Amino acid sequence: MKLNEIIEMDSKYYMKTFGNRTPVCFGHGKGMYLWDTEGKKYTDMLGGLAVNALGHSHPKLVDAITSQACKLIHCSNLYYIETQARLAKVLVENSCADRVFFANSGAEANEAAIKLARIYFKKNGQPEKYEIITLINSFHGRTLTTVAATGQEKYQKPFAPLTPGFRHVPINNIDELEKAIGENTCAIMMEPIQGESGVNPVTKEYAQAVRKLCDEKGLLLIFDEIQCGLGRTGELFAYLHLGVEPDIFTLAKALGGGFPIGAVLAKEPVASAFEKGDHGSTFGGNPLACAAGLAVMDVLLNDGLIENARKMGAYLKHKLEDLKAKFPSITEIRGKGLMIGIQLNNSKAASIASGLLGKGYLVGSVGADIIRLLPPLVIEKHDIDGFVEALENVLQELQE
Ligand SMILES: Cc1ncc(COP(=O)(O)O)c(C=O)c1O
Repeated sequence: MKLNEIIEMDSKYYMKTFGNRTPVCFGHGKGMYLWDTEGKKYTDMLGGLAVNALGHSHPKLVDAITSQACKLIHCSNLYYIETQARLAKVLVENSCADRVFFANSGAEANEAAIKLARIYFKKNGQPEKYEIITLINSFHGRTLTTVAATGQEKYQKPFAPLTPGFRHVPINNIDELEKAIGENTCAIMMEPIQGESGVNPVTKEYAQAVRKLCDEKGLLLIFDEIQCGLGRTGELFAYLHLGVEPDIFTLAKALGGGFPIGAVLAKEPVASAFEKGDHGSTFGGNPLACAAGLAVMDVLLNDGLIENARKMGAYLKHKLEDLKAKFPSITEIRGKGLMIGIQLNNSKAASIASGLLGKGYLVGSVGADIIRLLPPLVIEKHDIDGFVEALENVLQELQE
C-alpha cells in the first residue's frame, strides 16, 4: 500500500488517540536502521521508545520467537511453562528480587506492583496502609490506577474520578516527601530516571534518603524501571547506580525486545503476599513472550550490550556537550547511558525532530523544549557521529 492510502485508512478507522502521526510507515528494520515503505533509510535514535534495545530484527530474537512459535505459542497459566520458569530464574539471579510475575505491558506490571504493595500490608495486619506516594511529572501508565499514580494532571483530568490512594510530591525533595507520609502510606514509587517527562534523574542522595525513610517508617520502595531498566543506563538496572535496592520493581518495554511482556519483581517476604487467586493474567508470561524475554536477556548479559550502552552513552553525551558549547539554545544534556535528554530554550523541539526526520534520524520530542534519545543498545560510534552532524546541521538551519 502507498503511504497516503495507509494514512487515509488509519484516519477513517483508527481511534484518534495518536492524532496526526509522523507521516512515515516503516516496512522493515535491521539493527540501528529502519526503512520506510517508500524505501528511505532512517537511523533509529528512539528505539521504539526504549523497546528495541537489541535493535531491529536481532537474529537471536527472531530465531527465539520463530522457533518457539513453531513449538507452542500459548497455553494457559493453569499449567507449568518452561520458558516462564527460565525467564523468572534469569531475572531473579541477576537482580535484587526473589520472585517475578509476568504481565503484558508496563502499565499492567505497575498495576501488579500497586496491588502487591496493598495486599502485603493487608495480609500483615495493617489494612489502613494503602496509599502510595509518587513523584510529580512521573509516568506510570494509562490504566485508571496507573494514571492515578502518574504525577501529571493532563493524563488524569479527563478520566476523573481516578483510583483513590495516591499523592504526588516534587522530585529530589526529601522534606516534601517526609511531610506527605501519613498513617495510610504503604509505599513510595518512582522512576530512577523519569522518561516521559523528559529524562529527569533522581539523585543518588535522594534515592538513599528515600530508602532510609522507607526503612525507618516501614514503607515499601517501588522502582518503575520500565523505561530506564535492562541495560539502557549502562547498568542492568538503574537502581545499581543509586546504591539502593527497591522492595518491588517493574520492567516492560525492552524485556521482549518488541514482543509485549511486562514484569513485576519483588523481594521476600513482599513477593509471597501474592497467593493463589490474588492476581493473574491470561497472556502474561506465555511461552512465546518468555522465549522473547530469554533471548533479550541472553543478548544483554552475554553480548556486551550493557557495556556498549555505557561507552556509547558517554561518547554521545560528550559530543552533545560539544554542540551545547556551540549553540546557546541547548541549555542542558541530561541522563545516563543511552537515555539522554537535550534541554532547549527556544521551543523548537518539534521543528528539530522534524528536521532530523528529513535527514533520516528518528528522535522523540517532549513538550516544546526537550529532545529525547533512547537508541538501541547496539549503537556504534559512526551512528553517533552521523546523528550529531545531522543535529548540528538542523540547529544551524533553524538559526538562519
Ligand atoms: C516509566 C514508565 N512506566 C510505565 C509505562 C507504561 O508502559 P506501557 O505503555 O507498556 O503500559 C511507561 C511507558 O512509556 C513508562 O515509560
